Amino acid sequence: MNHITLSNGLRIAPVALGAMNFGTTTSKEQAYAVLDAYIDMGGNFIDTSNNYAHWAGTGDESETVLGEWLRDRGCRDRVVIATKVGFDRHGEGAGLKKAQIEYWVDESLRKLGTDYIDLYYAHTDEPTTPLEETMETFGMLVKKGKVRVLGGSNYDTWRFSEANALAKANGWTPYTVMQQRFTYLHPRADMAPKYIFNESVNRERLRYLCDKDIPLVSYSCLAKGGYEDTSRIPSDYIVGERLETIRNMAQEKGVSTSALVVAWMVNLYRCEGFPRVIPLFASSRVSHFTDNLKGVSLALSDEEMAILNRA
Ligand SMILES: NC(=O)c1ccc[n+]([C@@H]2O[C@H](COP(=O)([O-])OP(=O)(O)OC[C@H]3O[C@@H](n4cnc5c(N)ncnc54)[C@H](OP(=O)(O)O)[C@@H]3O)[C@@H](O)[C@H]2O)c1
Repeated sequence: MNHITLSNGLRIAPVALGAMNFGTTTSKEQAYAVLDAYIDMGGNFIDTSNNYAHWAGTGDESETVLGEWLRDRGCRDRVVIATKVGFDRHGEGAGLKKAQIEYWVDESLRKLGTDYIDLYYAHTDEPTTPLEETMETFGMLVKKGKVRVLGGSNYDTWRFSEANALAKANGWTPYTVMQQRFTYLHPRADMAPKYIFNESVNRERLRYLCDKDIPLVSYSCLAKGGYEDTSRIPSDYIVGERLETIRNMAQEKGVSTSALVVAWMVNLYRCEGFPRVIPLFASSRVSHFTDNLKGVSLALSDEEMAILNRA
């Protein structure tokens, strides 16, 4: 895999592995198998959070399983760990106040069994805390060496931009990665996503990221398995010509539609007005995960990209 360099010199694989369900609906054994397969294929960029997956357990499971795997494989220095703070666990603890961030970063470090986090995200915007407080606190974590790079997830573009303007004006570390829900299908204009923070990426956001040279880590990019089983496509996506187009091309190329979605995303930066996109996907099965990874090395011509973009 051709790795990408982030701010601070961090080198990441062009696709990220989602660990959200590790230790809950994905067993520890399955998680180890997927993690090992990803590393064997050249991956190094793993995504978790301080609250995964509290709706199916306590919220400690994902980071804990990941920490055990890092220890068992002795590979901490060869992987890039991204984790997050800001969402609730069982209705409690949501927020980005100084005390909350300082508490949860230490909890994440403890569970992961490490003394630094490579990429630390604000998991969601939190308008009741001044952005200054959040950005100054994050900046201190970078200064202390607990965190290397910062990112923002589920922010409106203008709030992300405002946070970075404040960071710049005060000499704090800005967000240099954005994580947002994004897939090949277009969102429906007449229907909001199930959760408000799940708002999908639009053209304006893509242009902003392109202009600022900020990479987009795209979560739920396989539409929850919906490219292989359309009944799983979230109801706020349009299922029509665009799905037909990518399915037909996948068939012609002899790959799965999910692998082609991954290929389209990793190649988007070649097209005008698009930032670097790093697909972030999950699977409980090695066979699914490695099939999706085939998209990383799939060649797509300019004409094929244009067909996919036009649909
Ligand atoms: N920042 C945020 O707010 C946020 C929100 C949600 C998620 N995330 C991150 O993004 C990661 C991925 O998100 P996600 O799980 O929502 O979405 P996803 O990766 O789009 O979908 C995962 C689902 O797709 C299925 N799947 C994958 N490949 C398949 C294949 N080849 N054939 C059939 N089914 C396939 C998996 O089933 P199998 O297990 O059967 O393979 C799994 O149920 C998470 O782990 C998390 O790290 C971040």
